[in-house]
Amino acid sequence: MILEILSVYTILFFMKIIDFRSDTVTKPSPEMRQAIFEAEVGDDVFGDDPTVNELQTYVADLFKKEAALFVASGTMGNQICLKAQSQPGWEILCDRDCHIVNYEVGGPVIHSGLLVNLITTERGMLSPEVIRGSIRPHNIHCPQTKMVTLENTHNRHGGTVLPQKEILKVKEICDEFGLVFHLDGARIWNAHVSTGISLAELTAPFDSVSVCLSKGLGAPIGSMILGSAEFIEKCRRIRKLFGGGMRQVGLIAAAGLYAVRNNIQRLSEDHQNARLLAESINKLNSFKIDMSRVETNIVIADIITDDNSEEIVKKLKDINIWAVPFGPKKVRFVTHLDVSRYDCEEAISRLENNF
Ligand SMILES: Cc1ncc(COP(=O)(O)O)c(C=O)c1O
Repeated sequence: MILEILSVYTILFFMKIIDFRSDTVTKPSPEMRQAIFEAEVGDDVFGDDPTVNELQTYVADLFKKEAALFVASGTMGNQICLKAQSQPGWEILCDRDCHIVNYEVGGPVIHSGLLVNLITTERGMLSPEVIRGSIRPHNIHCPQTKMVTLENTHNRHGGTVLPQKEILKVKEICDEFGLVFHLDGARIWNAHVSTGISLAELTAPFDSVSVCLSKGLGAPIGSMILGSAEFIEKCRRIRKLFGGGMRQVGLIAAAGLYAVRNNIQRLSEDHQNARLLAESINKLNSFKIDMSRVETNIVIADIITDDNSEEIVKKLKDINIWAVPFGPKKVRFVTHLDVSRYDCEEAISRLENNF
């Protein structure tokens, strides 16, 4: 008996942890660390950091936008974009499950005094008809509806890609009513690789875009804001206000530059791994997955046993598979640079033996 218990613990000890909690958990590769080591730096608050400047020019060109600004995080990027283009008391229209409202600590109201109108959607896309119907009349009693935000790919909806045709229709409405159009493009890279539509085309309809270097692309820190040169100048000032004016930050920008130069196209591997994982989990007795949502690197599994998500995550942890609870009866798995095809196959075999 004692021997049996000992052998179970020994097996567990040698079982590699397979970490599906998020695509933010990746660690810089040796090549990325070398790029950090070699980075030329300067004081970026003076605009003197050559590596930051190179990154900003490179990313602006990639998206065919006038200018780009390096910021500390996706949250900072989104919140600066909102503040730079709004006045307190304005109303913004967002999907009910969007990151900007659910996971940015109340930023829209705290930083910008914005009123948020949350709209329920099927897959993260606000329909043009609903947007049109949500714009308030010019009336002395009403707040002014002035901004629409979208998230592509959409995290809480399972990494879904927003349909570009619908985005263009929303853009027409924004133009008709003078609404600012913002994109949380933390995972726009995944939408690009999944659809084959260029980054420039995906983001052309938006006045402001924030994209993350520290998710699927594998950089340790950093996001970018994109837009017109005038808008980016305004954002630079707000970044300073938020305490985000950093000095010899080329050390971090070098990792971002390495990430955008080397790690975009390989996201297709993460998408294939997510698909394999989802297909296998969907066959187990404990879970059900809406396979139509598995378009990129996120897999959301509905729990169909009596367990809640905390219990399932604990059971997964017992076999060294890490995932996150995503509501009371859902678990999220995310594939990324630091889980290989082999890791996914290994995880599947552990799952098949235990669930
Ligand atoms: C869709 C989306 N937007 C924004 C963010 C915020 O990024 P950060 O964690 O860098 O603030 C995240 C983080 O996971 C996200 O998933």
